[in-house]
Amino acid sequence: MKKEERGHAESERVQSGLASDLLNWYDETKRNLPWRASHDPYHIWVSEIMLQQTRVDQGIGFYLKFIERFPDVKRLAAASEQEVLALWQGLGYYSRALNLHQSARIIAESHNGCFPEKAADWIQLPGVGVYTASAISSIAFGDPQAAVDGNVLRVIARLTCESAPISDAKVRRSITERAQSLISTTRPGDFNQAMMELGALVCTPKRPKCEVCPISHYCRSKVLDQVHLYPIIQPKVPPREEMMWYILYFNKNGLYVQQRGSSSIWRKMWAFKSVSEEAYKALLQAEMLVAHATPSPELERRMEHRLTHRLLRIYLLPFQCGVGFTDDSLTFVTYKELNNYPFPVVFTKYLKEIGLWEG
Ligand code: ADE
Repeated sequence: MKKEERGHAESERVQSGLASDLLNWYDETKRNLPWRASHDPYHIWVSEIMLQQTRVDQGIGFYLKFIERFPDVKRLAAASEQEVLALWQGLGYYSRALNLHQSARIIAESHNGCFPEKAADWIQLPGVGVYTASAISSIAFGDPQAAVDGNVLRVIARLTCESAPISDAKVRRSITERAQSLISTTRPGDFNQAMMELGALVCTPKRPKCEVCPISHYCRSKVLDQVHLYPIIQPKVPPREEMMWYILYFNKNGLYVQQRGSSSIWRKMWAFKSVSEEAYKALLQAEMLVAHATPSPELERRMEHRLTHRLLRIYLLPFQCGVGFTDDSLTFVTYKELNNYPFPVVFTKYLKEIGLWEG
């Protein structure tokens, strides 16, 4: 056998050995998660969208509630955007909910209710990227596409001693190719989930549990006793700071709210009245007065809300309204009705803190 052929035979042996050791471990230890009991692409799709930016333990409750309220794609397509957003309340990254809803309408109307089977078709839908397309098509339809999320990047970086930062797009593509060469073609969905599971439970960012890892004997960094050096993480760029100014008009029965635009953060959700910095300062310093409303300085707050790449600094000034207060840009909502209005969590937290929302 030529050297080249020997190398090829060796990599095939590693490939099938690694996949089968990983799958045996997965079969014995996998967590019992609600979407794993199903092969329904609708269930797999909803779970993958929810898990994009949400931890598994936090996602389970939301997933069960969502599937109960919208048991299939037709029911989701028939719902209103506001209903879907209201159910997503508290999960964050709300564009996921809007994209899910928009995709449900596309599938119901243009695909006659049938889901795509291949990753290349899934990726055409709003909110579905390379990772999600591969995860759904492999788990629901056995399409042999490696799904590489943050956990899997770390596993492969350690397995192969990847010396470049895993945040780099080229490195991610190269790691995805490595994952693709390792995938089990007979059980691609389980292989992908086993990789994620390994990253979440064993090959953790800190204190990885190499002693219980089913593929440690294939792991280059383990063999070299260098697991602590990988993955290479580039220092984070500080989040961009953004300031936002709000006025809350309320009375004893309810409060005045405003729906956010479709191009802004928290698109189509509800919030208090958004104003410019100048208007806010003028109101704060009582240079500008509002007819039939008086400031409640004891309820004034500055809040911070951290997103992946942004730090929002929110300034909030409340006014108690009397009879005769009007503002055409606002909608009055009673405290009882508030639950039907999807609000960003920063605002609901504030309303709960000051005792205006029972939740
Ligand atoms: N994260 C994303 N998808 C997942 C899945 N199917 N199982 C566990 N964790 C996940």
